[in-house]
Amino acid sequence: MKKVIVTGDRPTGRMHLGHYFGSLQNRVKMQHDYETYILIADVQALTDNFDNPKKIRENVRELVLDYLGAGIDPKVASIYIQSMVPEIAELTIYLSNLVTVARLYRNPTTKFEAMQKKELFGEEGSSLTYGFLGYPVSQTADILALGGEVVPVGEDQIPHIEQAREIARKFNKTYGEVFVEPEYVLSPNPRIKGLDGSEKMSKSLGNAIYLADNEEQITKKVMGAITDPNKIKKDDLANPDVCMVYYYHKLVTPKEELTKICSECKSGSRGCVACKKELVASMLAYLKPIQERRKYYEERPEEVDRILLEGTAKAQKQAKIIMAKVKDAMKIDYFKEEDRN
Ligand code: TRP
Repeated sequence: MKKVIVTGDRPTGRMHLGHYFGSLQNRVKMQHDYETYILIADVQALTDNFDNPKKIRENVRELVLDYLGAGIDPKVASIYIQSMVPEIAELTIYLSNLVTVARLYRNPTTKFEAMQKKELFGEEGSSLTYGFLGYPVSQTADILALGGEVVPVGEDQIPHIEQAREIARKFNKTYGEVFVEPEYVLSPNPRIKGLDGSEKMSKSLGNAIYLADNEEQITKKVMGAITDPNKIKKDDLANPDVCMVYYYHKLVTPKEELTKICSECKSGSRGCVACKKELVASMLAYLKPIQERRKYYEERPEEVDRILLEGTAKAQKQAKIIMAKVKDAMKIDYFKEEDRN
């Protein structure tokens, strides 16, 4: 039997190359060897966007299009909407008894997100809601309600998966073995730097190249990329290892060309502008099949809806089976045969 993958994203915006290399590509590679569930985490997105439901709604189908474009195959992977599987919400309540408030405040990812939003976060006082503090519990339920065993994610998600493991362990110890402790799997490039040299490509840093970006948008972003600061004139010798253009060449340019780029850069026979233009061309070539698939589905909204409905139905079925086991273990299944005898 195949192991179960559960993973997903919040529908808060378009997917960019950081998402693609950081986790999407890995999911695409793994989908055939696992039973794969990919969730659109609308409930989680509402924990810090509760006052902006329109934004979440608008991004649900965009996210599906990015998935399909990136190569998630709806024939083998089920894409489902979190809020449409109410068992997840139900399980969240039961799991919330198994984690302390102090432990939730120690989660480095929620702590970091609070800091980014300039919100207070800590036991002494928090300006964030109970829902936000507890979203790692609901994320645990996302995974466990579907029997998730393997979770391919980006590196910022590690604390959440560790917390999920602790909660699964505590459940099993308290009520009996029901869950597998899920494991995270990082992609070969778990974090992608920005073309501006920042440690991370991210929407909030304004340095993201989106999967759906066109030539003009990509050119503008690539032309602004940080190169070796010691290279001032076109024929100065340079070090490709400190250049963001070369960093991206390594991700999108065919391997055969990399040696040439590298040696020309080191010997001063390659100017940065030409090198950037080549990067734009490779990036467009790399994104072409992704954008073509995205467009195919964009033009067929009924097909996208069908994919979402079928994926969600499959997830609902699986969650029902698992919730029955949960309720049995927790002794809250009151109308069994044995109760009547
Ligand atoms: N927290 C994840 C993110 O922000 C999204 C997510 C929600 C998720 N539930 C999940 C990821 C379950 C993996 C498994 O990207």
